[in-house]
Amino acid sequence: MFDFTYYTPTKVIFGKDTEEQVGQLVKEQGASKVLIHYGSGSVVRSGLLDRVKASLEEAGVPYVELGGVVPNPRLSKVYEGIELCRKEGVDFILAVGGGSVIDSAKAIGYGITNDFDVWDLYEHTRKTDKCAPIGVILTMAATGSEMSNSSVITKEEGALKRSYGHDASRPKFAILNPELTKTLPEYQTMCGCTDILMHTLERYFTQDGNSDMTDAIAEGLLKTVMKHALILKEDPDNYKSRAEVMWAGSLSHNGLTGCGTKSTDFVTHGLEHELGGMYDVAHGAGLSAIWGSWARYVMEDCMYRFFKFAVDVMEIDADPFNMYGVAIDGIEALERFFKKIGMPTSLKELGVEPTDEEIRELAHKAAVACGGKKGSAKVLYEEDFAKIFEMAR
Ligand code: NZQ
Ligand code: ZN
Repeated sequence: MFDFTYYTPTKVIFGKDTEEQVGQLVKEQGASKVLIHYGSGSVVRSGLLDRVKASLEEAGVPYVELGGVVPNPRLSKVYEGIELCRKEGVDFILAVGGGSVIDSAKAIGYGITNDFDVWDLYEHTRKTDKCAPIGVILTMAATGSEMSNSSVITKEEGALKRSYGHDASRPKFAILNPELTKTLPEYQTMCGCTDILMHTLERYFTQDGNSDMTDAIAEGLLKTVMKHALILKEDPDNYKSRAEVMWAGSLSHNGLTGCGTKSTDFVTHGLEHELGGMYDVAHGAGLSAIWGSWARYVMEDCMYRFFKFAVDVMEIDADPFNMYGVAIDGIEALERFFKKIGMPTSLKELGVEPTDEEIRELAHKAAVACGGKKGSAKVLYEEDFAKIFEMAR
């Protein structure tokens, strides 16, 4: 078990009707003017936005609003938000939505506290430790951005989807009311469950040490999400299952399931980000379309972890004389689960059929984004990325 720092400054307020506390929570943060940031309309239709405004008004906190964030959130909306916040003297950003809205809020938060082009951060040509304070009312259990240090933004020009991470962007509070996720279409619920599984697996498949404690948390989280995803497929209004998945989502990406290991993998995420940038696919679906190909490509270099995953998570019979067979059975079992919840396990099923040239472009962009190499289960390079995209066709 390696040394680690575990930093989760986000105050979590979990349960029914918790969004009613938002005015008070923002006030406690000392906000003088708030930007309410949201997406393409789900929070308007559900009435949540009106309830949020009422709570802020009751607490006497002035606000302005900016909606229109789309999945794979765009840089142009971030610039619009920065301009609005500067003009209005906003000093606190309240994200009401899913990961895309939270990430856009974080980018605006960087933008209003720094005097350079915020895209420089996402291009990794600059760094900062300054971000305006962010609060979250989460409407979709998926990315864990409500507790994470990262933000992923897409620049329209060049279709570049890039991430930047710093602890300064970790939200001050996250309001998690599982009931708010009941209006999600089934596809988005399942994309979210897939993303939560993937955040955990990206930390699980590593060669750089592990910890019994962390493994137990990760394996429990994976089993919990798979169990409740299947329940939600039949019974989308099931509060307990919505709640289990929502809490798992936050824990999957706040660092907890990486404690004690030296590095994380995140190749599947790196490859998905290029798919999201070029084809605007839903993040969770892009991940499941790639994962099996990545797993088969790297498993021999990380055999013990794939064997353990198969036995301890997917409940395949342990046969130490056939580690390869057991590991493959584990990969296939997770792919069967993805199919059961309606998630794609190939690019074709995702609805994307890249040409050979596009595969080279995807691989090249992924390599540029990670500085040439990435991975902990196995360190991979541009030519490996291309082969995985090829296998995923
Ligand atoms: O825009 P609205 O109208 O709200 O609709 C959204 C959107 O169309 C809808 N939705 C959300 N909550 C809803 C709802 N519809 C009905 N009822 C509700 N309660 O769902 C659609 C998808 O929303 P989005 O926010 O895009 O989904 P998600 O939370 O999966 O976020 C995906 C983005 O986050 C990034 C992804 O790459 C992608 O860009 N990620 C961010 C991470 C982070 N910051 O830590 C980590 C992740 O690995 C990920 O990369
Ligand atoms: Zn993700």
